[in-house]
Amino acid sequence: MTVFGGTGFLGRRIVCRLLEKAVDVRAVSRHPHKNKCDNASGKGRIQQIEADILNASSIAAVVGGSRVVVNAVSLYVEHGEQTFERVHVQAAADLATASRDAGVESFIQISGIGSDAKSRSNYIRARGRGEEAVKATFQGAVIVRPAVMTGPDDAFITTISRLVRLLPIYPLFGNGGTRLQPVYVEDVAEAVSRLALGQNSTDASIFECAGPRIYSYRELVGQIATQLKLPIRFVPVPFPLWSMLATATECLPGVFLTRNQVDLMRCDNVAANDLPGLQELGMQARSIEDVVYMIEHDV
Ligand SMILES: NC(=O)c1ccc[n+]([C@@H]2O[C@H](COP(=O)([O-])OP(=O)(O)OC[C@H]3O[C@@H](n4cnc5c(N)ncnc54)[C@H](OP(=O)(O)O)[C@@H]3O)[C@@H](O)[C@H]2O)c1
Repeated sequence: MTVFGGTGFLGRRIVCRLLEKAVDVRAVSRHPHKNKCDNASGKGRIQQIEADILNASSIAAVVGGSRVVVNAVSLYVEHGEQTFERVHVQAAADLATASRDAGVESFIQISGIGSDAKSRSNYIRARGRGEEAVKATFQGAVIVRPAVMTGPDDAFITTISRLVRLLPIYPLFGNGGTRLQPVYVEDVAEAVSRLALGQNSTDASIFECAGPRIYSYRELVGQIATQLKLPIRFVPVPFPLWSMLATATECLPGVFLTRNQVDLMRCDNVAANDLPGLQELGMQARSIEDVVYMIEHDV
């Protein structure tokens, strides 16, 4: 099997899960030496391959001979030729085309809850158009839409925990009412590995992977503060102010806030009731309390 983006936050965990299940995996990225497959039991063999999803000829060479291809490539900030349209739509379609032409049996596209081809946000629209392009190209492609993912090296709970410790008053996105259903990244990786191995009893083509509980953003931050035994006071900050801040910080090295994050925080990000998810794949989602504990105790 081949995992594009196989060194990423999610991708490398998908690679680990597959290796644990004795699957041979090609982990593809532009910097394959970054691969840290901590939990690999070594039952499957890993091949780390350097390729750029933007280079159609290099991807064709990589997917040949694979039974399953997973696209877990991300782009959170546009720069140069790396636009959301180029990476999430065109390159995803190129990868699906190359996979189809190479006789790959299954194609799994990692997208995100809330993807919408008609959204006003460039990022959210590209995710939705990417799903459509992949489905139109590779018949039977499976779309996996995670909610915001959490885990020891995430950019979400870790950031909230740091800010709760640092700031006397915590700035909310708007009034903090946006509803979120964060999911443990290892749960999503396991779900993708089950889909890759055909371990699902439904023939659905879209899965939304979300955590066990829906929180408002304010509740989530409050719950993390409670778990860290820290006092918390909130201040609502209007979205246009966040957008201005994100526009300014996207130009800096070590971006801490992007415009697409702000766009995503404007809308509820919870799993649809009528789409299958972790439960239908025979899984029980880990709680955020567990994830905060893991982050705090480095387990
Ligand atoms: N993180 C979340 O909370 C979240 C939530 C919902 C959905 N998602 C979706 O989940 C997927 C994975 O996200 P992630 O957070 O795991 O991303 P990530 O940590 O940024 O990893 C991205 C991976 O893609 C590779 N990559 C980037 N550009 C590439 C290119 N041009 N050619 C080949 N490989 C390339 C990266 O390696 P190199 O840079 O070395 O190439 C890396 O392996 C994305 O589709 C994302 O939108 C993420």
